[in-house]
Amino acid sequence: MTQIPHITDATSSTPQSILEHQQLAQRRLPIETWRYLQDGDVGNNQRALSAIQLMPRPLQDVRGGHSQLSLFGHVYEHPILLAPVAYQRLFHADGESASALAASAQGGQSIISSLASQPFAQITHAAQQGAASGSEATPWFQLYWQGDRERTKRLLQRAIDAGCSAVVFTVDAPIKVATLQLPPQISAVNLKPNDLPQSDNRLVFNGWMIHAPTWDDLTWLRQQTSLPLLLKGILHPDDAERAITTGCDGVIVSNHGGRVLPGAPASIDVLTSIVQRCQGRIPVLFDSGVRHGRDIFAALALGASAVLLGRPYLWGLANNGALGVAQVIRLLRDELEMTMALTGCQYLNNIGAHCIYAGTRQPNMTEG
Ligand code: FNR
Repeated sequence: MTQIPHITDATSSTPQSILEHQQLAQRRLPIETWRYLQDGDVGNNQRALSAIQLMPRPLQDVRGGHSQLSLFGHVYEHPILLAPVAYQRLFHADGESASALAASAQGGQSIISSLASQPFAQITHAAQQGAASGSEATPWFQLYWQGDRERTKRLLQRAIDAGCSAVVFTVDAPIKVATLQLPPQISAVNLKPNDLPQSDNRLVFNGWMIHAPTWDDLTWLRQQTSLPLLLKGILHPDDAERAITTGCDGVIVSNHGGRVLPGAPASIDVLTSIVQRCQGRIPVLFDSGVRHGRDIFAALALGASAVLLGRPYLWGLANNGALGVAQVIRLLRDELEMTMALTGCQYLNNIGAHCIYAGTRQPNMTEG
């Protein structure tokens, strides 16, 4: 990898929108890889986000505004994090390193999957290369439970040793079975062969779920690290409450991009109930369905502190490696800032429920 994607200018062949990135990626990727990437109910999250209408507020003086965010003591240029995504060398030879480099070059945050296809240290090194001189850029680590505490601890320790600065514990997909036959040169290189729990995968309760984590395991995990710990895959306010009482530092409202439980609610439809329950005690991050800056704005207006981006940055990665990822982040950031300007919001903390047109469909309240 040679190019450090600080640049923001576009050439004539550069996709000019997220949709163009998607269309180009679909043409470039092998059909099985495309199907793996797009797997799940993509439409539900997007329909719910699109149903939110925003209220323009002209004539506000927003000069000097920005979309900077402070989270866990770190200042970011914008509130867009790259979600953990497995096996990124499927999409581009530079894999996770390219995504991490692009995220830090754009002043944001990346999250390395447990199922990354490159060594943790290589990815954290790339992130540091992309950072502005003098500033630290360390990816967060996404943890999948490894069947028992010992294996899980070993994996966590490898990520911490490589310099990861926060832990995202994904709990909505206790068992994620790859829907794709991986090419021989691509694998989860940070897992040792005997880290993989063996079970009869045809059985649910006495097969798969024997290896799934419980709330007790979360209590144990909390004691294993002093790094910020976030729970990813929360859709019910009671679970957010329990995350707080267990000592988590953040929750990520997510339905895994519609890839796990068919019929799960759209993330945006449950965001308000979770924000209301958390009452500012910990940051609530939003994930699943972000395709436009206005989606980011809508999530922030409903109380999210930041958003995670999934498939769109993989489209950028497939199209142009680190540069493609950087372009996708920049496009979304520009759209977010334009939305802020048109709604009279100078800074992120000006964004709130008042920016949403009251006549619009209200998010479901699942609390009860
Ligand atoms: C994922 N996601 C995911 N999440 C996670 O915690 N660990 C992982 O290894 C993966 N792997 C993965 C692979 C692929 C191909 C996709 C598309 C997604 C879920 C991801 O972090 C995120 O929650 C969703 O992608 C968000 O939805 P959108 O933005 O893709 O709509």
